[in-house]
Amino acid sequence: MSVLQNALVLTARQGAFAISPISIPTPDRGQLLIKVQAAALNPVDWKVQANGIIVTDYPAILGTDIAGVVEELGDGVEGFRKGDRVLTQGYFHNTHAGFQQFTLANADVTAKIPSHLTFEQAATIPVGLGTAALGLYTQNVPPGVDFGSARLIPPWDPLGRGRYVGKPFMVLGASSSVGQYVLQLARLSGFSPIIATASLHNATHLQSLGATHVLDRQLSAFDLRTEVAKITSKPFDVIFDAVSLPATQNAAYEILAYGGCLIVVLYPRININPSTQAPGREKRVEKAFGQVNFPPENRAVGATLYRNLTALLEEGLIRPNRVEILPGGLAAAVAGLDRLRNGTVSGVKLVLRPQETT
Ligand SMILES: NC(=O)c1ccc[n+]([C@@H]2O[C@H](COP(=O)([O-])OP(=O)(O)OC[C@H]3O[C@@H](n4cnc5c(N)ncnc54)[C@H](OP(=O)(O)O)[C@@H]3O)[C@@H](O)[C@H]2O)c1
Repeated sequence: MSVLQNALVLTARQGAFAISPISIPTPDRGQLLIKVQAAALNPVDWKVQANGIIVTDYPAILGTDIAGVVEELGDGVEGFRKGDRVLTQGYFHNTHAGFQQFTLANADVTAKIPSHLTFEQAATIPVGLGTAALGLYTQNVPPGVDFGSARLIPPWDPLGRGRYVGKPFMVLGASSSVGQYVLQLARLSGFSPIIATASLHNATHLQSLGATHVLDRQLSAFDLRTEVAKITSKPFDVIFDAVSLPATQNAAYEILAYGGCLIVVLYPRININPSTQAPGREKRVEKAFGQVNFPPENRAVGATLYRNLTALLEEGLIRPNRVEILPGGLAAAVAGLDRLRNGTVSGVKLVLRPQETT
């Protein structure tokens, strides 16, 4: 095997992307070397480039949604063989990112891809499902950190499947990648009704993933509350805002029951009126941190998710996002990230194929 590969590198903070030859890393203990067959694009990738956030070392390789083939195993790895088709979540370290032809993965947060799924479908899963799962199910989040969870029991735990039967659930931005996985997890957790907001052209698809009702994302906060009240009068103990703009956060917070938990994916931006609080039954707002590799609290949930993921996919209990394949290899990320930034992608995940890079 050649020791060099192609990567899409962000050359400097807020700089340009370029295709560059870099060396292929060697897997350490507990790691896999993966030949990346498909990598999905995420909003955070354009946010890093445009805003200079998160990443500190340049040139940097982005991309954290990865599907490919196991090429080499590090010491101590069990349960995988060379040639296995796998999916994993990367992170912003050049040996662990997705916009390159070979990357490293931590084996405990890697899962085999069932034969009915393509690499491109599998690449839509890690970040979206991880964010949904961590926001709902992470336990024991240490005090003083800026992320949290609803602390529900996950549906892959025998005590968790169907546990929340009869309780209503709401997800704002249900046709986002994260939102589609939130819907499916809410269904597995037993919630009902499951109310979604989205553009209505996505309604049928979202119903197939678990939404019992789809409301137009253009409704005002007042109209949204009115429509929700027509569906159920039960209290909402958990709401997931997969958009988390100030308007959606505030609309969700108003609907949330006292003592309930609103999960957001961006920093909380809620105008809390102290006179409307119920002392001792405050509404909790938790920002999900959708990274299964770290910190350890996320890794613990992530590892149990990945241990169960192949079976959940095989049984069709978790389905991937719909895919749009971007032709042109790694370089296709540049135009694709522009589309995500412009908000012109609706209900599909953009996926590129690094091995097509010329
Ligand atoms: N905290 C974390 O660790 C973490 C992890 C992952 C993602 N995120 C963040 O989560 C957000 C979603 O990420 P993603 O990859 O899931 O996004 P995405 O798939 O790119 O989301 C696009 C979808 O958002 C929907 N949408 C946009 N504005 C909306 C609104 N006002 N109401 C309802 N739906 C709306 C659109 O729905 P329609 O087409 O139906 O109109 C569109 O389909 C991003 O801001 C991302 O940066 C955070």
